[in-house]
Amino acid sequence: MTAWNLTYETYKPQDQGLREALCTLGNGYFATRGASAQVSAGDIHYPGTYLAGGYNRLTTVIAGKEIENEDLVNMPNWLYLKFRFTDGQWFSPETATIRSYCQDLDMKNGVLIHIVVFEDEQERRIRMEEHRIVHMGDRHTAAIRVLLTSENQTGSLEVESAIDGTVRNQGVKRYRDLNSQHLEILESESTQNEPVFLKVQTVQSELRVAMAARTRIIKKGRPLDLQAELINDNGYVGKRYTVDISQGETIQVEKIVLVYTSRDIAISECGLAVRTRILHAPEFDDLLASHKLVWKQFWRRSDMKMTDRRKKRQSLRPEMVVRLYTFHLLQTVSKQTIDLDVGVPARGWHGEAYRGHIFWDELYIYPFITLQYPEITRSLLLYRYRRLDMARAAAREAGYKGAMFPWQSSSSGREESQTMHLNPESGRWLPDNSHFQKHVNAAIAFNIWKYFESTGDIQFMCEYGAEVLFEIARFWASIATYNKDLDRYEILKVMGPDEYHDAYPDAEAPGLDNNAYTNVMATWVLTRALNALDILPRDRVEELCETLGITESEIELWWDISRKMRVIFHDDNIISQFEHYDQLKELDWDKYRKKYPNIQRMDRILETEGDSANNYKVTKQADVLMLFYLFSAPELKTLFKQLNYPFEYETIPKNIDYYVRRTSYGSSLSWVVHSWVLARLDRKRSWKFFLKALQSDIDDIQGGTTQEGIHLGAMAGSINLIQEAYMGIKTRGDFLWVNPELPEVLEKLRMQVRHRGSTLAFETTQDMCKITLLCSPKNTFKFGFNDNMYELAVGATRKFHI
Ligand code: BGC
Repeated sequence: MTAWNLTYETYKPQDQGLREALCTLGNGYFATRGASAQVSAGDIHYPGTYLAGGYNRLTTVIAGKEIENEDLVNMPNWLYLKFRFTDGQWFSPETATIRSYCQDLDMKNGVLIHIVVFEDEQERRIRMEEHRIVHMGDRHTAAIRVLLTSENQTGSLEVESAIDGTVRNQGVKRYRDLNSQHLEILESESTQNEPVFLKVQTVQSELRVAMAARTRIIKKGRPLDLQAELINDNGYVGKRYTVDISQGETIQVEKIVLVYTSRDIAISECGLAVRTRILHAPEFDDLLASHKLVWKQFWRRSDMKMTDRRKKRQSLRPEMVVRLYTFHLLQTVSKQTIDLDVGVPARGWHGEAYRGHIFWDELYIYPFITLQYPEITRSLLLYRYRRLDMARAAAREAGYKGAMFPWQSSSSGREESQTMHLNPESGRWLPDNSHFQKHVNAAIAFNIWKYFESTGDIQFMCEYGAEVLFEIARFWASIATYNKDLDRYEILKVMGPDEYHDAYPDAEAPGLDNNAYTNVMATWVLTRALNALDILPRDRVEELCETLGITESEIELWWDISRKMRVIFHDDNIISQFEHYDQLKELDWDKYRKKYPNIQRMDRILETEGDSANNYKVTKQADVLMLFYLFSAPELKTLFKQLNYPFEYETIPKNIDYYVRRTSYGSSLSWVVHSWVLARLDRKRSWKFFLKALQSDIDDIQGGTTQEGIHLGAMAGSINLIQEAYMGIKTRGDFLWVNPELPEVLEKLRMQVRHRGSTLAFETTQDMCKITLLCSPKNTFKFGFNDNMYELAVGATRKFHI
C-alpha cells in the first residue's frame, strides 16, 4: 500500500458498485465511473457517465400521483472494449473466470488501472492490462489503452470497441419505479474509415451530446490496418476487429474518445466538433503525458502531507484517504468547470443518488477550494447568481420578499426537492418536506461573504455578490414575524439541517418554529447585508438600492431584526434546536442499538415501527452544532451579545456534549462537524470523529449509499478540517490567520494555500509551526498568528513555537 493508490487485489462482486464510485475518473466537465470496460449495467456493475449539469426531467405516476423529477442523466457508455477468442466466451467479469485481479486508482497521475487474468470455458487465458484516463487538461477527451497477452493459446482474437447509447438511469434501486428513459438517439454511424460516432439528445431538456471513438490495434509497435465488422444497432455503435495472437504475444488496443455537447462554447455544432477533432486527437501516450502534468501541478498545490507518529503501515491510510477525497473533489469541480453553468452536486458527478442536485453542501466544500483555487469558487457562485430571478419568483409565490433559493437545485433553479420519498425499510412512499429547509439561503449568503472576505474580490461583490446577499437578507426580513409580547422576531414553520424533524409530534402540518441555527444564520445574513451597505463603493450601493428598491425603512427593519431575533434555550444554557425541543421524548438508544445492527437511519427505523423521529430527541446530523462549526467562539459571542442573549464560553462544551449524545449520524456531514467542534476541546475524540468522516465513503459506512455517488460534502469537509481546524488556517477580514493544533497522533502536517495572489507553505509539528512565503505580488505578506500580526518577505520563513 502506498498513500497514493487505492488498490483492490481481489474481485468482489458485492463491492464492485462501491469501487466503481470510488474509482470514478472525471475532470469537472464529465465523469465516468470506474467500471470494467467489459461490463454492462446490472446488479453488480454500473458503468455510468455523467456530464456536469447534464439534467433531464421525466414524469412518473406513483400511487396515483404524477411525480416529476429532474435527474442527472446517465450518458452513453464510451468505455466498451470487449474481447474473446473467435466464437468463444467474452472475457468479462460477468461471463469468464477471473484468475487474478487488480484494480488500482493511481491518484498521483489520475490513472485507473485494471490488471486481470481471465479464463474462458475452454481454459484459454488472456492477461489484460488497462490504463484509463479522463483528461484533466482537455475536458472533452478520454482514453483507454489495453494490453492483451495470450497466456496459453494461439488463435484469433475478436476485439469489440463501442459506444453504447442504449443506457438508462438505473443506478439507484430506490428510483427504479420511476421513468428512466432520458435519451433518444439522433445519429449513429460506424464506417470502415471513420471513427465511430453517436449523437443523442435528452428527451425533455434537449441537451445534445455527441461522442466519437477512434480505436487502433497495435502489434509489435505498428498499428494494424484491419477491416472491421461494423455494428450499428439501435444506439449501440461500434466496430469488431479480428486479430491473430500467438501464445505469449501482446497486442495493444487504444481507444480515444471525444465528448461535446450542444452547450459547449467555441464550436459550431457538437457532432461536427467531435468528428473534426477526433481526427487530430493525440495518441494515448501523448494524452497520458499531458494529463499527468496537470495532475502534477494540482498536487503541487493541493497535496496535504500527513506524518503519523506511529509509523505503522496502517498509519498511511488517513493520508491516502485524504488524497482520495481531494482527488474526487478536484475531479468534480476543477478548472474545467470554470465557464460551465454548474453548481456543486452533493454526490459528485459520480452516480445518480440525489439526482446530481445541489444542496447546501457547498458550505462544506468552498472553504478548501477558495484557499486553493478561488477562481473555481467564483464560477460556482455565479451558478446561484444566474438563478436569482427564479429565487425571486419563488419568494413572491410563497408570499415573501427578496429571493428564496430552493433546497434542491439543478438546471433552472426551481425547487427540485422530491415531494415523496421511499422508505426502503417499510416500503412506504412518504411525504418529503425537506424543502422547508430555508436555511440553504443563509448558506448561499455565507458562501458569498466568505469568498469576498478571502479574496477581496470587490468586482464580484459589486456586480453579483451584493445583489444576492441583499435579496436573501430581504427574504429573511420578510419571513421573520414580530412577536409583540416578547419584542422579538421569530421564524416559524421551517426545518433546520436535522432532517429527522419536520413537524411537531402529531401536528397536521409540517414545519417547526424558531430553529436556532436558522434564526442565528438569518441574523448573521442581515448583519452582513448592513455591513455591505457600508463598505461597498457608495455609487454601486446607491445603484443597487435604486434598482432593487431598497428603502431606508427596509434597512431599519434589517437592523431591528438583527438585534431582536429570538433564540430559545432550555435546561442550563442549552440552545434549543427549535421551540419545544425540550418537550420531546428521550430515545432509548440502548434498546435500538441492541435491536438493529445499524441505527444511523433512525428515521426509517421508527417509521417502519409505526413511530416517528419527530417524537424524540434524536438528531440526524449537526444542527445547533453547525453554529460552532461556522463561527469562532468570539464571533458567536458577538452575535449573541448583539441579540442581547448571554453567551458564556462554557455554553460551547455543554451544547456539544448534549447534541453529540443525541445524534445518530444519518448524514455523513455530522462526523465532520463533530470532529471540528471538538478539535480544540478534545483532540482524541476529534481525531476519532475525523477517522469516521474519512471512513464514511471509503468503507461505505452507511451501507450501500456510496455506490450511488460519493458524499462530496463529507469528503471536502474532511479535507478542510485539516486545513482550517488542525492547521488552523482561516481568513478573517482582510487577513489570513493561523492557529495550528495538531491531533496527538500526527507528527507533522504540511500544505500550501493561496491568499490574495500569495502562496504560502505551512509545516506544523506538535510544538512548532513554520510558515514560508513562496511568492507574492507585493513581495511581502501580512498575516496573523494566534493574536498577533507578522510580515514575511518572499522566500522568507518564520518559525513559531506552539
Ligand atoms: C443531508 C443534507 C444534505 C444532503 C445532500 C442529506 O442526507 O441530511 O444535509 O444536504 O444529504 O448531501
